[in-house]
Amino acid sequence: MKDMMELMAEFFNMSMEDKSEYYSDDQAKKNRLFSGSMYAKEGPKFWRDCLRLVSYPLDESIKEWPQKPKRFREVVARFVVEAREVLMLLLNLICQGLELKEGYFDGDLTGGEMPIHVNYYPTCPNPDLTLGVPAHFDNNIITLLLSGAISGLQIKHQGNWIGVEPVPNAFAINIGQQIEIITNGMLRSVEHRAVTNAVAARISIAVFLSPKMDCHIMPAEELVNKKKVLLYKSLVFEDFARSSAKNEDVMDAFKIKA
Ligand code: OGA
Ligand code: NI
Repeated sequence: MKDMMELMAEFFNMSMEDKSEYYSDDQAKKNRLFSGSMYAKEGPKFWRDCLRLVSYPLDESIKEWPQKPKRFREVVARFVVEAREVLMLLLNLICQGLELKEGYFDGDLTGGEMPIHVNYYPTCPNPDLTLGVPAHFDNNIITLLLSGAISGLQIKHQGNWIGVEPVPNAFAINIGQQIEIITNGMLRSVEHRAVTNAVAARISIAVFLSPKMDCHIMPAEELVNKKKVLLYKSLVFEDFARSSAKNEDVMDAFKIKA
């Protein structure tokens, strides 16, 4: 965790020239550095640079990663392998808790490219005017967030935004919208955002454990309750991902209305 944070601070502190090699506004590129948000919106720009990398399977992904600073590939590889282990362990604990069979999430449900976002929020002279990342739900299975020592992450709870105070050496875990569907609404995805501050730059690192794009997602039969009230339609993950990128109220579109 420490190595990863230090490396990424070094990355974002590189010269403009060094970083511009990785910069692209082409959303189809799997690995790229960009500014602002993927959630295209009118109005003020978001106060963020983001290094996006895909990381699974590792041996294919790693060849496309930056090689500056020097230890980049070695440090990131170690981090993503361990992050994945933590997430798979959490999923199996969720299975135990919900009485789903062990390994329910193995295979295509977690076989996607596992994108990581390294978010860099520079100090912002007027944090009231913009956000780092706008309000959103993570659209994947489950997300591990290394939130760092500086606060910025907020979650929506009963209509209010609440700050998630950083805990040293801890991760924040976000339940993704696909788990909400698979558990037929038993585990809910939480809306969150990142605010900026005027005092210190902040780095956060998100690892998005994701389904394969062509994976079919549907409520687990075991969890559709006794009355067989099915709350969500089946879907192909790629369709969901495409809709959520357009910032629609995507969950609503996949809910079964009474
Ligand atoms: C994200 C995210 C929050 C943060 O990258 O999906 O929610 O605190 N980031 O940076
Ligand atoms: Ni998020």
